[in-house]
Amino acid sequence: MASVPFDQLDGEIWFNGEFVAAKDAKVHVLTHGLHYASAVFEGERAYGGRIFKLDEHTRRLHDSAKILGFTIPYSPETIEEACNTLLSRQGLTDAYVRPIAWRGSEMMGVSAQNNSINCAIAIWDWPSYFKPEERLKGIRLDLAEYRRPDPKTAPSKSKASGLYMICTLSKHAAEDKGYADALMLDWRGQVAEATGANVFFVKDGALHTPTPDCFLDGITRRTVIALARRRGIEVIERVIMPEEMDGFEQCFLTGTAAEVTPVSEIGPYRFNVGEITSQLMNDYMSTVQPERAAAE
Ligand SMILES: Cc1ncc(COP(=O)(O)O)c(C=O)c1O
Repeated sequence: MASVPFDQLDGEIWFNGEFVAAKDAKVHVLTHGLHYASAVFEGERAYGGRIFKLDEHTRRLHDSAKILGFTIPYSPETIEEACNTLLSRQGLTDAYVRPIAWRGSEMMGVSAQNNSINCAIAIWDWPSYFKPEERLKGIRLDLAEYRRPDPKTAPSKSKASGLYMICTLSKHAAEDKGYADALMLDWRGQVAEATGANVFFVKDGALHTPTPDCFLDGITRRTVIALARRRGIEVIERVIMPEEMDGFEQCFLTGTAAEVTPVSEIGPYRFNVGEITSQLMNDYMSTVQPERAAAE
């Protein structure tokens, strides 16, 4: 975590097509995105100077905006180039990359038909999402009170800022009880995901993961599924009911920030940090850092 507040970081931010001093990258208080959560964003990681799956993240940013009814006025190529250029201007090689697009200030009501669409990219140094020592033992998750909404209630395929309201509430409630994060069920009571990462379980040598029909089908999730299949591990995407967690042996989270993080506990359920989890943690790190893996 940065030791200074994010609005006081040094360096630059790409802001509507220009590189500006990070401290000057400001929006007005009367901004639609702030009041009505009309914003979409991405979370990306750079390893060894390369942003992992930048094209997929940029496509998802554009798609998320389309789902929220607006078009980002910068092409995917422009955004990708801006991300790469900013990474080197920041002098960073291993970092977190945060593009965001939002509706501006021209109208300040529920309707925002004439608002400008703005886009910015920030990049900062970012260590492990969960504390490294906790991560290797497996992190502890609470069971969240809030549930992932029905896709008929919220645009669940979009990485939309508004969807994170229940994630922050759930993560805070878990942290207040000493947990690292929370597992959220969906509107039907099925296992869904953590507040910022997807979830996998291991049983009898196979991976089980919920079908992503009302939450983000993470880029890391898809990467890990491909890595598991390459190792001949069966991957079953299906409905998982919470009681089934009693019979699962291992559990881990996947996400750009979380990477592959073992879980030791979810509410009353207990898991080991086993061989398949460790194998996929290593495989994932070798995939995102191919040069480092080749040198070892
Ligand atoms: C709610 C939520 N689910 C899942 C994920 C994992 O997605 P990805 O692997 O694309 O980072 C994230 C992270 O972006 C997230 O915020």
